[in-house]
Amino acid sequence: MNILLTGGTGYIGSHTAVVLANAGHSVVLLDNFCNSNQSVSARINQITNQTLVCIEGDVRDTDLLINTLKKFKTEAVVHFAGLKAVGESAQEPLSYFDNNVAGSISLLEAMKKTNVRTIVFSSSATVYGKPQYLPYDEVHPLNPINPYGRTKLQVEEILQDVAKSDYSWRIALLRYFNPVGAHVSGMIGEDPRGTPNNLMPYIMRVAAGALPHLNIFGDDYDTRDGTGERDYIHVMDLAEGHLAALNYLTQHSGCEIFNLGTGIPVSVLELIHEFEVASQGTIPTEVVARRAGDLPIYFASANKAKSLMDWSAKRDLTDICKSSWNWQKFRGSLDD
Ligand code: NAD
Ligand code: UD1
Repeated sequence: MNILLTGGTGYIGSHTAVVLANAGHSVVLLDNFCNSNQSVSARINQITNQTLVCIEGDVRDTDLLINTLKKFKTEAVVHFAGLKAVGESAQEPLSYFDNNVAGSISLLEAMKKTNVRTIVFSSSATVYGKPQYLPYDEVHPLNPINPYGRTKLQVEEILQDVAKSDYSWRIALLRYFNPVGAHVSGMIGEDPRGTPNNLMPYIMRVAAGALPHLNIFGDDYDTRDGTGERDYIHVMDLAEGHLAALNYLTQHSGCEIFNLGTGIPVSVLELIHEFEVASQGTIPTEVVARRAGDLPIYFASANKAKSLMDWSAKRDLTDICKSSWNWQKFRGSLDD
């Protein structure tokens, strides 16, 4: 299949590009590089031993999208492009709604005009909000508590309405849990700009000596060891989830929602411990106050993805920490 990946040089997009290209698909990347750079596509090419087309452009540029979809005879789109920092979304809500919601509408307009009717959308577990029960399944009520989460929910709603308006659409909404880890080569991985907000990138910077210690945001939660528990999913498992979704859509029209998680909650202390084993080092920590807006625990029911798409996460915490540490070491050797 000819597949366009918007945000294709970002963290999840780059890993998905590798999985799709290795599965024999023809992959085109489109990115405005606001949170990535050109060198990622060169590294994807090295890993896959293929030369993927990489276009610099913005998803809000509908004409560029129309031309791109036509030029490459695109049959499906995986839509990663968007902004994803929760704190920033509260400070810059307009930018988030513009990029994430207006960007998605622009893409859908272009797809409609060019008769491309298959799309996989990057949504987030953040659409669920405070758990009313756990694990979250796909019918859990939705109540995102920050602007970022609301942009994801709005796009989900738009896509559901689009699917209802015309039965030829084939849409998968993928709700990711906590993506971590990196490709086994260590050549691509998560590369946040500035000081990271999320746990794994922060641990990696501490392990590399770039930050002095990790703040643990609270150890008095009602969890197994008092620290927050999350469903950390290896980015390569997540990437394979996109391949599974595209395969599923070849057989099904309409709009279907899937959680992509492991179903296994892991605490902050457990992740630190695994990382210390993988990196054969020590992560200095300090317990500080809880972070505003943090939930004590959440994790996925991944049963629907297993039963409908025959997809489940295969990699464990050791794979996650080893690959993250490999990537951290490689990242340190890059000069971009
Ligand atoms: P990322 O920032 O690494 O990748 C997003 C890519 O999109 C970047 O390369 C960026 O330059 C590009 N981009 C942003 N706005 C664009 C625009 N208007 N036009 C073209 N390109 C644009 O983030 P990621 O972690 O790979 O996330 C991919 C998607 O998955 C995002 O939509 C994100 O909201 C969603 N998601 C991520 C997580 C996570 O924890 N990483 C969790 C749930 C959902
Ligand atoms: C964050 C986002 C969420 C997004 C998810 C994707 C927030 C409030 N939420 O969720 O919308 O979908 O990332 O990965 O940002 N922690 C520390 N010290 C740190 C960083 C984190 O102790 O320096 C703890 C947190 O309190 C939490 C756990 O580590 O218990 C995971 O945090 P993080 O990686 O930021 O992910 P989420 O909070 O799940």
